[in-house]
Amino acid sequence: MNINFTYIPGDGIGPEVGDAAMTVLEAMTAKFGHSLEAEFHLVGGAAIDAKGEPLPAETFDSCKRTGAILLGAVGGPKWDHLKGADRPELGSLLPLRKNLNLYANIRPCKPFPALIDKAPLKRERLEGTDFVVMRELTGGIYFGDKGRDESGAFDVCRYSESEVRRIAVKAFDLAMTRKKKVTSVDKSNVLETSRLWREVVIEVAKDYPEVEVEHLLVDAMTMHMLTYAQDYDVILTENMFGDILTDEASVLCGSMGVIPSASVSDGKTGMYEPIHGSAPDIAGQGKANPLAMILSAAWMLRLSFGLDKEAAAIECAVEAALEARQTTGDLGGKLNTSDVGDWIARNV
Ligand code: NAI
Ligand code: MG
Repeated sequence: MNINFTYIPGDGIGPEVGDAAMTVLEAMTAKFGHSLEAEFHLVGGAAIDAKGEPLPAETFDSCKRTGAILLGAVGGPKWDHLKGADRPELGSLLPLRKNLNLYANIRPCKPFPALIDKAPLKRERLEGTDFVVMRELTGGIYFGDKGRDESGAFDVCRYSESEVRRIAVKAFDLAMTRKKKVTSVDKSNVLETSRLWREVVIEVAKDYPEVEVEHLLVDAMTMHMLTYAQDYDVILTENMFGDILTDEASVLCGSMGVIPSASVSDGKTGMYEPIHGSAPDIAGQGKANPLAMILSAAWMLRLSFGLDKEAAAIECAVEAALEARQTTGDLGGKLNTSDVGDWIARNV
């Protein structure tokens, strides 16, 4: 198969972890007899510097055409003085998600056995944890009207019934392939959007009689996630709550540097990226852990190209690297970013 995708390394450590992921993808293609056609493009700060805008038209066109995007990270202190849509994140990441209709963001939380003692929670609270957060990504307060007026500032949170329904359907469909449980998280004791959220989830649940459903308020969920992590399967929630809860979930996995994510739509369009940012404090030093980016590439193979065996081969090699302690300093290893990529490439 010709694996044609848009490759956007981005800013900070993005190009470093991206190089490592490309090395692994090349090894995978050689092994399985595929060909790799990566279309290299700029976004965020790198695009502002080179083209004067955070999301150049040719980047967006390539994303739309290939329908499979591997992205490093965007942003950094160099562009902090910019305002509104001139900023790397507001001007590139959010419009990419919205315009490609990537309304479902999926982040796994399944601690690697080799990393379980790196997490701040006790081993017995973590063993067996395996859940996925299904976060709504193109609605809610991040996309509502925002601004300032004489009284202060405002951000408007809006959800339509259809926006809630389509993400709920994704969550229930995913639960059917897993442990058949959906935990829907809202703030329905206070927010009207959350009352609608809960009503729609209850309605969608009727089509999935085999799936166990529970509803939790988001403040309680922050506590439950740390106390009963093993009880969850699919956690369904809106945009801002999902943003916050997924960072909390990443702590259960021992390091930000090992968690991939997928943002998907209906059909096969998908954007795959590590959950970490551009880490300006370690950029350019070869310290960045490339595992999250490598695992994001594996997810791209599975979800956008249907290459399950190939994705699994990469995931097994990542686990082997963790077991063999062939890691970067954040995980206690001695290798630099590209050494880790090379090791995994040899072991795919
Ligand atoms: P960050 O995730 O970049 O870094 C947080 C901490 O984790 C830092 O100490 C960093 O060195 C460390 N870290 C992150 N990734 C790592 C890796 N792969 N290996 C080893 N250590 C790693 O978050 P921060 O510092 O809040 O944001 C930095 C910039 O990234 C900001 O401009 C922010 O807006 C942007 N950002 C972009 C995101 C994206 O592109 N999706 C997501 C989050 C932040
Ligand atoms: Mg976030």
